[in-house]
Amino acid sequence: MKKLNGKVAAVTGAASGLGRAMALAFADEGMDVALADVDELNLSAVADDVQEKGVRAITLKVDVSQAAQVEAFRDQIIARLGAVHLVCNNAGVSPLGAAWESSAADWEWILGVNLWGVIHGVRAFTPALLAQQEGHIVNTASVAGLISPPGMGAYNVTKHAVVALSETLYHDLSERNAKVGVSVLCPAYVPTGIADSERSRPRHLASAVQKSQETQAKEAMMRKAVKSGKISADEVARAVVKAVKANRFYILTHPRIKPAIRARMEDILKERAPRNPLAL
Ligand SMILES: NC(=O)c1ccc[n+]([C@@H]2O[C@H](COP(=O)([O-])OP(=O)(O)OC[C@H]3O[C@@H](n4cnc5c(N)ncnc54)[C@H](O)[C@@H]3O)[C@@H](O)[C@H]2O)c1
Repeated sequence: MKKLNGKVAAVTGAASGLGRAMALAFADEGMDVALADVDELNLSAVADDVQEKGVRAITLKVDVSQAAQVEAFRDQIIARLGAVHLVCNNAGVSPLGAAWESSAADWEWILGVNLWGVIHGVRAFTPALLAQQEGHIVNTASVAGLISPPGMGAYNVTKHAVVALSETLYHDLSERNAKVGVSVLCPAYVPTGIADSERSRPRHLASAVQKSQETQAKEAMMRKAVKSGKISADEVARAVVKAVKANRFYILTHPRIKPAIRARMEDILKERAPRNPLAL
């Protein structure tokens, strides 16, 4: 989509971090923006910031793990803003832990937000974009969708799945000559609220499992790495705008991660055991 001015963007996880930055970057392009999140308070503050840029903003409390709420988000956008053109399935959470140490509730929570959230977004919005023969979908994965760092099995599972879903969506739309673009966003560490995602865990998915020392150490490492990320959320958002305009599929905002991706591919092709991407 070369021209964004006057079009409508939908962003999930818009109350904080990358979602907030994307909403503001789209507003800078002259787009109206529909904002969804479970955090209503911060969502309305972001809506104020978006409106200050002279475009329209609407907000809806949406838990992306619930199909009906994502469908209601789409219906609200079309009813109130007239159409939707750019869809960013971005909401995400990041409980850490080895696969066997993560509770069933941990798995259910992260799969619900990071994977089902994207699935619901793709299912709810793609038919509308196809019908108008114009649009673009950006799914937020992570470098953890291209490599598999230790200590975050559930997160890696969701992000690899989002990459697979996005690649397949790209093929399926191309086979139909659809004028609907797809991008998958794969950042490394960016200073946002992601290390504090426990704040949005629903009560019914509270984890009863005591965290191991290893997991606590990984959490401390992750918090530090996120905080000291060299690329800001605003820079990532500008990269997304550029990719949408250029119709580019992979958005890799941290080029220094590429050797780890190459190492994984080589290990696969040579059929040898995977090297630890954090130890390369
Ligand atoms: N920050 C990083 O280092 C980094 C790196 C790679 C990928 N990502 C991905 O970027 C995306 C955005 O995360 P962020 O870094 O901006 O973190 P963030 O915590 O600042 O923002 C995430 C937002 O998602 C919302 N959210 C959580 N559960 C939700 C639900 N069920 N329904 C709707 N909204 C929900 C939160 O309230 C929050 O506003 C996530 O998918 C994350 O996995 C982040």
